[in-house]
Amino acid sequence: MHSALAEWSKRPDMVVHNDAPLNCEPPLAALAGEITATDGFYCRNHGPIPQISPADWRLTVAGPGTGPQPLGYQQVTELPAHELTATLVCAGNRRAELMGVRPMPGKEPWRQGAISTATWRGARLADVLVAAGVGGAPDAHVAFTGVDVAPEAAPPQPYGSSIPLAKAMAGEVLLAWAMNDEPLPRVHGGPIRVIAPGFIGARSVKWVTGITVQPGPSANYFQNVEYRLLPPDAEPAPGAGTPLSSLPLNCAVLTPGDGATVPAGPLDVTGYAVAEDCARIAAVEVSADGGDSWRRAALTPAHGRWSWRHWSLSINAEPGPLRLIARAVDDTGATQPESAAALWNPGGYANNSWTRLNLRVA
Ligand code: MTE
Repeated sequence: MHSALAEWSKRPDMVVHNDAPLNCEPPLAALAGEITATDGFYCRNHGPIPQISPADWRLTVAGPGTGPQPLGYQQVTELPAHELTATLVCAGNRRAELMGVRPMPGKEPWRQGAISTATWRGARLADVLVAAGVGGAPDAHVAFTGVDVAPEAAPPQPYGSSIPLAKAMAGEVLLAWAMNDEPLPRVHGGPIRVIAPGFIGARSVKWVTGITVQPGPSANYFQNVEYRLLPPDAEPAPGAGTPLSSLPLNCAVLTPGDGATVPAGPLDVTGYAVAEDCARIAAVEVSADGGDSWRRAALTPAHGRWSWRHWSLSINAEPGPLRLIARAVDDTGATQPESAAALWNPGGYANNSWTRLNLRVA
């Protein structure tokens, strides 16, 4: 077992992409329930994981209408507490499939497990902004700053990111201090992090110590250079391409595993589906004939807008090779793009192509 997994209280069968800083994803079996146990929740860290005690933690809130307002842990945790269940998805989830199309040297080959769901408890970011007396024009952005300095950030700077003010004020964005009913673990941003449900995980800044309402998006490396969708042959550069924010419609198969040999007869196929607004996932369709015909899977009920949906379908597996495809459909009838090759981008982000599995039926 990687010593980093024990150090950060993660289950021993996590798939480790880096151990310093820890970047790991759970085995697919850990993603079967609505809530992911904290020891199986994926970790995405760009820089060294800081240690900040609640007593030492300070948040500075600034913006039009007020000078910088320092807040302590107690002041934030005394605001009305809100709890929600939200799925966090890394923009690099399913990157490994894009890397199979064309390599991306130095990038973590995330499989379908850079996604997990927890209950989060915290103060509404909207309440924090109102209490600090910070206003802003309707098209303003709210920039977050953490404390960890990643080696790739150029020039060197702490991790940061931003979201539109309208999203910040919508009520679902939290400054969270608890995860699955426990104090927020250090590896997940403790003592306090941002949770921005429905947006790529990169916007949920951990160890947040600065919040600024400003006229435009953050100039931070992780907003202005990374986590952007670039054309296939473009080089990352400040402001190039499109910044990622809302989650695209996506799904993955959890069982059976790709490449498995399964017995002939009834075969349960299960998976997850996710979107910016999970209540708008209308169906998941599965094809066993290369996409000529599709059957609809049973979806679990929606648990609010921010939590993924699980799905299952029993198919009759006949001996020989079996190729399965799964895709989600939203309430407009829109579905996922067919080919990963058409989605290839240098950062390896936002792969929401049809999920494909090659099985052998014995
Ligand atoms: N916040 C800070 N300060 N540093 C980071 O490296 N990684 C981001 C985000 N917030 C990151 C961060 C990314 S890319 C993701 S996907 C999520 O945190 C992952 O959160 P987790 O490690 O709790 O799963």
